[in-house]
Amino acid sequence: MLHLPLLPNHSAGRAAVTCKYRCGDACFHDVPNTSDNPYFGDLVDRRTAIKAGVVVAALGGVAATAGCAGGTGVAAAEPHAAGLDFDPVAPNALDAVVIPEGYTQEVVIRWGDPLFADAPEFDFDHQTAAAQARQFGYNCDFAALLPQDAVGRTNLLVTNHEYTGEPFMFRGYDPENPTREQVEIAWAAHGLSVVQVQQAHNGRLTPQFSRYNRRITATTPFRLTGPAAGSDLLKTSADPTGTLVLGTLNNCAGGVTPWGTILSGEENFNQYFGNAEALADPRLTRYGITGTATTRKWERFDARFDLAQEPNEANRFGYVVELDPTDPDSTPVKHTALGRLKHECANVRVADDGRVVAYSGDDERFEYIYKFISTGKVRKGNSKAARRHNMTLLDDGTLYVARFTGDSPPAEIDGSGKLPSDGRFDGAGEWVALAAGDRSFVPGMTAEEVYVFTRLAADKVGATKMDRPEDIQTHPHTGVVYCALSNNVDRGKPGKEGATEPNPRVNNKHGQVLELTERGGDALALAFSWNLMLVCGDPASPDTYFAGYDKSRVSPISSPDNVAFDRHGNLWISSDSAGALNGYNDGLYAVPVSGARRGHLKAFLTVPRGAETCGPVIGERVITVCVQHPGEVDGASADNPASHWPDGGDSQPRPSVVAVWREGHRIGG
Ligand code: FEO
Ligand code: CA
Ligand code: CA
Repeated sequence: MLHLPLLPNHSAGRAAVTCKYRCGDACFHDVPNTSDNPYFGDLVDRRTAIKAGVVVAALGGVAATAGCAGGTGVAAAEPHAAGLDFDPVAPNALDAVVIPEGYTQEVVIRWGDPLFADAPEFDFDHQTAAAQARQFGYNCDFAALLPQDAVGRTNLLVTNHEYTGEPFMFRGYDPENPTREQVEIAWAAHGLSVVQVQQAHNGRLTPQFSRYNRRITATTPFRLTGPAAGSDLLKTSADPTGTLVLGTLNNCAGGVTPWGTILSGEENFNQYFGNAEALADPRLTRYGITGTATTRKWERFDARFDLAQEPNEANRFGYVVELDPTDPDSTPVKHTALGRLKHECANVRVADDGRVVAYSGDDERFEYIYKFISTGKVRKGNSKAARRHNMTLLDDGTLYVARFTGDSPPAEIDGSGKLPSDGRFDGAGEWVALAAGDRSFVPGMTAEEVYVFTRLAADKVGATKMDRPEDIQTHPHTGVVYCALSNNVDRGKPGKEGATEPNPRVNNKHGQVLELTERGGDALALAFSWNLMLVCGDPASPDTYFAGYDKSRVSPISSPDNVAFDRHGNLWISSDSAGALNGYNDGLYAVPVSGARRGHLKAFLTVPRGAETCGPVIGERVITVCVQHPGEVDGASADNPASHWPDGGDSQPRPSVVAVWREGHRIGG
């Protein structure tokens, strides 16, 4: 068995200064979920608890592996699964996007590129808020490519811009004293972008100045819809109706609806609101909204970010937003019916009877997985009336949270110190109703409270604490639901929940991928079975598992984040590991989920130093990924850049969308 070699300049990866901007230092704060939900281990029999102990013991192997040199860590070449005819990219720490032999890559669009004919070219040293509002935003995360014609030549590329990294955006940035212009540039660099792109025969994507091009920022008006819209909990002095919000913040993953709109999850919104301490409100603490001054100091420049002045403003973020990119004049909405949490994503599936189901994860340590079932049914067709109707589907329905109820069938213990083979870490579960319209199913909470303080509602019904639920996607052929559980280094710490079956490792640095099958394959089912398909990390470590596949032939992977499928039904996974695998760069991986090569995970590409791979779109001619925060490593800044990607020389790094294709081939042959 080969061990992943240690890099000569082993870096621990991203450090606190960068985490601050990214997620408000989420990993360095206390876990917001202090609820005393029954531990999963208390819910199942003793056999399960013992089994968790086996995995804890296996973690000794990880520590031993970390210092092990020798070997290449490269998956061996062998016959390819359908659709995956590439040799895996080797783990590396290059300041480049590395792709398989025979493929071509090109940057589609970079932070600062103009989206309108009258927008200025990007000028790093002379940025303005007015220019940024007409240019591609910072830190693209989610991406969607929506064909606008039958052959897919004209597409709308829609991306999120999750957060700003001010020390990397401005030379000489003083975090204690940001200027108004810097703050307004940051507002304009958040949000979403819509840009038309033309696809050439070979797959190349070329941005166009089109009437569809649009920037959504931290100040664009949004309409609050659904059962909590108009609630007193959502009213502010600027919006006494509780229905109109300025902006969307920290948009992470998203989804494309069957009716052609974009969903986007507002994730670490907590970090933008200052002076929480003045309110001493446990409902704020439960969302990680604490302290006085924020990292970016926006509260100095707009009172709505100062909770002491506008205590409800933070209640207006943390939703799934929906945008119709084909109507540049439309007002995007925030759907309160899907609850308020650190939404990683929302992906919609249509049930056999036409109702729609949306899955969403709450990306924080020990948080939950949610499901929404609409009351109304989807209307077919591309007419404006159909789309208008379908855009109301996520406003009326029932919101559920997942409770994993244990081991079915009971597992055996082999005492080997290795993870069990396929089917051992599996079990059953149920969706527990939280609210439907104005009806609350949570004792002591009104429906409005359930929608606005959803985490507290889920605590009360004993939802299962998971290892950072990230992206969730339904397999296009089987209906099986795939959820990336990114990592959770707090699992098993004193006072924290220990290993459970769906989260089987303490100090979980590398995460796992869970398969969830609704009972009878029915999207509307309220019961499910589940198993772990991947338990990630260095395949040489005994506590990793790749669906039972020969681990000497798989690529190392840490911290699965976004998931997508290709037309063959292969699962593609992007990683956000911050160098957790001996300092290697993040990447995009593909793995068959069925057949003889189930579990044969291969790295398709890796991204530059300090970057995260995000928002993969696996098309027939082209694969796109967002390269988020290149150069975001400890000690780096605009005064001392750690990456010069994509422009090279001594340039500043720029978050960008990259397209990869293979001349003369459809992806996957
Ligand atoms: Fe923004 Fe859950 O990653
Ligand atoms: Ca993510
Ligand atoms: Ca991410």
